[in-house]
Amino acid sequence: MSRVVLVTGAGHGIGAAIARAFGERGDDVVVTDLDGEAANAVTGQLRDAGHSATAHVLDVAADDSWAALSAELRGAGRAPAVIVNNAFMNVVAPAHELDPAAWHAILDVTLGGVYRSVRTFHDSLTAARGAVVNVASMHALFAWPGHPAYAAAKGGVVALTRQLSLEYAPHVRVNAVLPGSIMTRVWDSVDDADRAAAMRQATLGRFGRPEEVASVVVFLAGDDASFVTGIVMPVDGGLSTTVAT
Ligand SMILES: NC(=O)c1ccc[n+]([C@@H]2O[C@H](COP(=O)([O-])OP(=O)(O)OC[C@H]3O[C@@H](n4cnc5c(N)ncnc54)[C@H](O)[C@@H]3O)[C@@H](O)[C@H]2O)c1
Repeated sequence: MSRVVLVTGAGHGIGAAIARAFGERGDDVVVTDLDGEAANAVTGQLRDAGHSATAHVLDVAADDSWAALSAELRGAGRAPAVIVNNAFMNVVAPAHELDPAAWHAILDVTLGGVYRSVRTFHDSLTAARGAVVNVASMHALFAWPGHPAYAAAKGGVVALTRQLSLEYAPHVRVNAVLPGSIMTRVWDSVDDADRAAAMRQATLGRFGRPEEVASVVVFLAGDDASFVTGIVMPVDGGLSTTVAT
């Protein structure tokens, strides 16, 4: 059965792979991103492959941006049954060097976006007996240098996932994935030594691909996971089950 699936931060990386995966299974994908050109490009690829998708500029940290998207989708009879909260922001710095504005922005995008998604579309998720999947991170569980606001936000996403799964049960299932090291542009600025360390830390000895996160997100959003809610599922190549060396 085709559903309307809204993906945030879907213009690049993991979000783009998630949008493609839902499109390939026949869903109607609402491709959203702060970067409208990137959202257009992903939507174009989906349409060229014969899938159903539209592109929208959405800043997940802005209430008026959610309101505008809500009006547009409801006007078209396309309020979402599934939402994947994937957008994030990060600035790498120890806490005492992190600008207060950056601290607030990281929290507001990475954690606040999840709150705004259900605030905006709680009714359509409920009516559809839908699902929310939040893309958290291993940073919710483990500390790496320089990520104070990001780690706090991702830890918050995990706690909020559990909270929402209780509040919106039994109609809406809410789960999260915890990606390990996934090869996207966020690794472009990381040096070879740190990349090698990331690979060593995973049992499988390599980076994950965005598609390997997307397939788990599609599973958690679908009927095959109909008795699964409130969980946080690592997609980390074994990172969380070994002692890093
Ligand atoms: N790549 C990894 O190794 C890794 C590891 C763990 C978790 N994650 C998580 O996976 C998700 C995707 O990361 P990625 O590696 O694909 O990054 P990416 O930079 O490739 O994609 C992130 C997307 O979010 C968009 N975005 C940024 N701010 C936004 C805003 N305010 N509103 C809407 N969209 C916004 C960007 O334009 C971009 O398209 C994030 O939640 C990230 O924390 C990634």
